[in-house]
Amino acid sequence: MRSTLSLVARSLAEPPTLKLNEKAGLLKEKGEPVIHLGGGEPKSKTPMDAILAAAGKLTSAEVKYTPTDGIPALKKAVIRYTEDNYGRTVAPENVLVSSGAKAALYALFAAILDPQDEVIISAPYWVSYPEMVKLCYAKPVIVTPEDGGHEPRLQEIEEAITSYTKAVIVNSPNNPSGAVYSEAFIAGVVELCERKGLYLIMDDIYHKLVFDGVKPPSAYKYAKDLSENSKLVVINGVSKLYAMTGFRIGWAVANTKLIAVMSNVQAQTTSCPSALLQMAAVGALTGVQSYIESLRFTLENNRNVMVRELESIESVRVVKPKGTFYCLPDFRAYSKDSVALCNTLLEKALVVTVPGKEFGMEGHLRLSYCGSLKEIMEGVQRIKWVLDPGSPKEIYIGDRKLVRDWK
Ligand SMILES: Cc1ncc(COP(=O)(O)O)c(C=O)c1O
Repeated sequence: MRSTLSLVARSLAEPPTLKLNEKAGLLKEKGEPVIHLGGGEPKSKTPMDAILAAAGKLTSAEVKYTPTDGIPALKKAVIRYTEDNYGRTVAPENVLVSSGAKAALYALFAAILDPQDEVIISAPYWVSYPEMVKLCYAKPVIVTPEDGGHEPRLQEIEEAITSYTKAVIVNSPNNPSGAVYSEAFIAGVVELCERKGLYLIMDDIYHKLVFDGVKPPSAYKYAKDLSENSKLVVINGVSKLYAMTGFRIGWAVANTKLIAVMSNVQAQTTSCPSALLQMAAVGALTGVQSYIESLRFTLENNRNVMVRELESIESVRVVKPKGTFYCLPDFRAYSKDSVALCNTLLEKALVVTVPGKEFGMEGHLRLSYCGSLKEIMEGVQRIKWVLDPGSPKEIYIGDRKLVRDWK
């Protein structure tokens, strides 16, 4: 019988972390000592400035619709953020505030894509890009670096461009690899997109969570055309930098015509983001900024510990992440099937990881280091115990004895 559900909707992949969270949650409910290295959000508490701003709005008892594209105070804060972090001055008409960076991206895809259009996405990529493109009846074109590295190659992107290509999406610092792309790549991709008349979507959601003194190159720096014809779009938000994932506030900065169409898409679907949560974002953006540095510092330390622990597992290859709170070690020496490996690690050692397959990197696992140092160390030690045949036959997790009865 013909399904009554949309073909496109049926074809969408379920976000992998949701499935894993469900499985891990069931085990936790049973009292199992699960370690979660699959998470996508820092543990820190919400900045007090955000809480106070939202509380002030709530106690006013005037929580109504706002302009679809965001309240003036938040637009002003975003403009200031863009000036401070990118040295670029934009107008309120260049800013769309959405319910999370994800919603801004979706409004963007809906605003620029026609059926059959193509969007170039390089692997490893954030899981939602291809699915959002598909939701717009367009085609994600995945470019996998031939050298198996984490930085896309300009030539491979150029070779993937066809007459249907509408946009190239770049996410650096990158989820899931933690890579920060080089100046040469960013300069090159800006030039390429300008030359070919393509939208360049920079998903900069992690751009201040960087390590070792690295500064992610800004696409604005290399853009020759910063007029109202520019097809450069920069996406940002408060979710990661201020650990405000549950507040659902993100934004896009782009040319006014595009922002107007995106705003219309938003107006006809979700309307404005919540008035309360917009105020929280104003609080975060205009409040004490040392919050970000302290989060960044914690994550850098966590990164060092995770990489050190992973390097102690023979045959696991790990590229040291330069930003975010993820890394994407290569486990192919142990298993080429990342879904199977991920299930094995959960079953045998109660460690949650995310299969690299979901990010276009089979044979790898995404591990998060946004949890506590204790979790990071014990989590990787448990992985080592499962994989390394030289490990002790038995280990204790809490007061439970686990026996290694496999090769
Ligand atoms: C690369 C990337 N872009 C966008 C988002 C979405 O951010 P938000 O929570 O603001 O929707 C995420 C969240 O995991 C992400 O990793």
